[in-house]
Amino acid sequence: MGDEVVIELIDIKKSFVSGGKVIDVLKGINLRVYRGELIAIVGASGSGKTTLLSIMGTILKPSSGKVIIDGKDVSNMSEKELEKIRGKKISFVFQNGYLIEELSPLENVEIISSRALGKKSYEIARKILSDFGVPERANVWELSGGEYQRVAIARAISVMPEILLADEPTGNLDSKTAETVMEEVIRICRENKLSMVVVTHNTEIAKKMDKIYRLADGKIVEEK
Ligand SMILES: Nc1ncnc2c1ncn2[C@@H]1O[C@H](COP(=O)(O)OP(=O)(O)OP(=O)(O)O)[C@@H](O)[C@H]1O
Ligand SMILES: [Mg+2]
Repeated sequence: MGDEVVIELIDIKKSFVSGGKVIDVLKGINLRVYRGELIAIVGASGSGKTTLLSIMGTILKPSSGKVIIDGKDVSNMSEKELEKIRGKKISFVFQNGYLIEELSPLENVEIISSRALGKKSYEIARKILSDFGVPERANVWELSGGEYQRVAIARAISVMPEILLADEPTGNLDSKTAETVMEEVIRICRENKLSMVVVTHNTEIAKKMDKIYRLADGKIVEEK
């Protein structure tokens, strides 16, 4: 493992107000993600995993604490500056996919990967979809739930982000397919020294990561 820190969280706290009540979801999270490091986040439903991932990816602001990306504190950056950082460094797989319905699966990958890869993106998009076992379909709505999820993963990794943030990326897949897909993602990360933080309930997948952190009662603890 290199000792270059890609993202650092310093004493991150996050509270929500809902129906006049304050919910303290994160109560002081300290976490470092090193270049090339693969991390699993586990924890019960509602423990704050998606909240934590969203804060790491700068799409949600913490109530207090600092997010440092490549040595820069992003707390006071404008939305424009944040977009630039996200575009260059961060890629998401959301808990519920979100492909563009008007485009084919291939176009969904290509439209994202072309930003980073230029002309070669068509061939790369085709290859990556075939590596992930997605059959060629003309429309997104023809895909099964699992195929849809695999396109979302393929799209996120195709840009070779410095860090991939994935929220239950294989939640709709049977455990065998989930492991095969994640092995492919891990291979791509290892070969290109990309970091990944993945929220997962699948212990087999978690065990393939370099570190496992458990989120409970607003705190994070490394599991041995
Ligand atoms: N915008 C919001 N307003 C109010 N409460 C919220 C908001 N977002 C999340 N919460 C609450 O914060 C807690 C943590 O939510 P979060 O989505 O981070 O959990 P999670 O660990 O990802 O759960 P799951 O495994 O079910 O996806 C939950 O109790 C949720 O209801
Ligand atoms: Mg969640």
